[in-house]
Amino acid sequence: MKTLTSKILSAVLTGALALGIAGCAQPAASNDNGLKTVEAGKLTMATNAFFPPYEYYEGEDIVGIDAEIAQAVADKLGLELVIEDTEFDSIIVGVQSGKYDIGCAGMTITEERLQSVNFTQPYATGIQSVIVPEDSEITDVDTLLAGDYIVGVQTGTTGDIYMTDDIGEARVDRYQKGNDAIVALTSGKVDAVVIDNEPAKAFVAANEGLKILDTAYAEEEYAMCLNKDNEELLNAINQALDELKKDGTIDAIVAKYIPAEG
Ligand code: ARG
Repeated sequence: MKTLTSKILSAVLTGALALGIAGCAQPAASNDNGLKTVEAGKLTMATNAFFPPYEYYEGEDIVGIDAEIAQAVADKLGLELVIEDTEFDSIIVGVQSGKYDIGCAGMTITEERLQSVNFTQPYATGIQSVIVPEDSEITDVDTLLAGDYIVGVQTGTTGDIYMTDDIGEARVDRYQKGNDAIVALTSGKVDAVVIDNEPAKAFVAANEGLKILDTAYAEEEYAMCLNKDNEELLNAINQALDELKKDGTIDAIVAKYIPAEG
């Protein structure tokens, strides 16, 4: 039975916990370059590494466009890059609570996310594509939206958010990994998958009998997200990205993973 004292105690504890979380929202360690990071000398990046060609495993290593761009940024800041793989929908929370310095995960800048985190300047563009079985009667986005089709998405992604807005919870099936949504599609559990175009191409290449619709669902910009309390780090990363854009490093990294078509 809950007594009044235990209720008061738990309220006090909850308050203390909330304060504790807010308290560690400030990045802890200072570095020689004057920047504050979660751990001294390190740039801790959160990603969800099942998203080729932006991040994926090659043996034990996480490689891809995001991993290489973050590495180039860390080099410029004189920090060691540490990549942590986590669920996509815990990246922003972890950045807010001071667990990670940056989230770098093919993450789209959205108004809603900007309420919780800062974003750097964009370093890439993305498109939300629709994947269907080759013989599907879904021929374009309008058909998909109008019918009573079930759509698979990765939890917490823009594909999830936009689809839920457009067709409602009941028609959206959420999966922790993009590839799990693809498995649901090949086994006929869902009628289509909405996901970013480059991972979509990789998934279609790796699975027989799937295709990407010609019409895109949404266009987006990818950037790194940071804790709102660390503007110095935001400015330093933006400056590094400026330099890496100007000297062609970013273009070269993207071209390495996404060969020009034609
Ligand atoms: N661009 C989409 C978003 O920001 C999907 C990103 C998913 N990234 C990942 N590494 N799984 O919501």
